[in-house]
Amino acid sequence: MKQHYRAGIAGATGYTGAELVRLLQAHPHLQVQWITSESSAGKLLSDVHSVPWAIPLIPLEEGVARAGEVDVVFLCLPHGESITAAQRFIAAGVLVIDLSADFRLADAASYRRWYGKEHSAPELLDDFVYGLCEVNRAQLRGARRIANPGCYPTGVNLGLYPLAKAGWLGDRVIVDSKSSVSGAGRTAKLPYLFVEVNENMSPYSIGYRHRHIAEMELVLNAAAISGPVRFTFSPHLLPLNRGILSTMYVTVPEGVSEQQIRDLYSATYAGEPFIHLLPAGQLATLRHVTHSNRCAISITPANPDEPDGREYIIVATLDNLVKGASGQAIQCFNIATGLPETEGLL
Ligand SMILES: NC(=O)c1ccc[n+]([C@@H]2O[C@H](COP(=O)([O-])OP(=O)(O)OC[C@H]3O[C@@H](n4cnc5c(N)ncnc54)[C@H](OP(=O)(O)O)[C@@H]3O)[C@@H](O)[C@H]2O)c1
Repeated sequence: MKQHYRAGIAGATGYTGAELVRLLQAHPHLQVQWITSESSAGKLLSDVHSVPWAIPLIPLEEGVARAGEVDVVFLCLPHGESITAAQRFIAAGVLVIDLSADFRLADAASYRRWYGKEHSAPELLDDFVYGLCEVNRAQLRGARRIANPGCYPTGVNLGLYPLAKAGWLGDRVIVDSKSSVSGAGRTAKLPYLFVEVNENMSPYSIGYRHRHIAEMELVLNAAAISGPVRFTFSPHLLPLNRGILSTMYVTVPEGVSEQQIRDLYSATYAGEPFIHLLPAGQLATLRHVTHSNRCAISITPANPDEPDGREYIIVATLDNLVKGASGQAIQCFNIATGLPETEGLL
């Protein structure tokens, strides 16, 4: 196994790209070789972010020309922009880990349905492994093309996967999620201005509208042995820098006890370094996870006065920039290359 790898980061001035640079400072086997920006090419990362790393920013075009210098490229670009970049780095023989949504979905029809446009390289969709590490670890080993999951779906899918796999998820799930503002990227759009967000809380794309439902269906319907699940997903924007908290309402089959559910989660996630299962009586909060690659999960019977009650509330939290993006991308890289999975992430 190789011990030293070099990374290119496309879109390093954005939140996920800058987070990758930060995380890679602690990675013993993977170092940053070059980083890109279009609007700030020619400047240093330390000119653009309040960080000490004076790494030159180059245009993406130059990154492509210097593909031979790197073993892996992390594409931290807006969706739609990753497709051409991925094609060019694949042609250069580089391991591609795309943080956008461009290669996450199973087919072109699904991309059209949720992203409202044609996929320009549908033949590549099958080649990408969906990088939800705890679920797709076997497929990630040796993978050369990885689609890093979305931030909301990572928490929701990890929170519900054990139930789906056991056939206990039922046919209807209500997911209520709260996200920090960094989830929207480093863009100056009206809804994300300080005065709009501060001391406010706004629902958006509620019901069956948000694109991330596609990834919940992709993972949980594939795992569910009891048939497809109908999702109601209501995201909210909160005045926070980082973090996503998802509260999920499920109904388990009759006769399934709380202890059986806890045993199921413990067995599913035994030995998982980044899953933090909360004991009975405790609830997952953002403070359990911010600045870490962990996903915290709590399981609570809805009504404590009904010992045989079938309704449960699962809460899953993560840092959208770490387990929801850049940390998970490094975890994928570690698995793909055979490095210890926690390298650079503890
Ligand atoms: N933020 C999150 O919590 C999160 C979580 C999971 C996944 N994601 C996904 O990860 C990707 C990056 O997200 P982000 O939040 O880091 O976005 P962001 O803050 O908006 O950053 C986007 C980056 O892409 C660069 N860029 C924009 N248009 C480009 C173009 N046409 N060609 C080349 N570079 C271009 C920008 O560079 P310049 O502006 O400097 O030119 C910037 O560095 C997105 O697809 C997003 O959906 C984000």
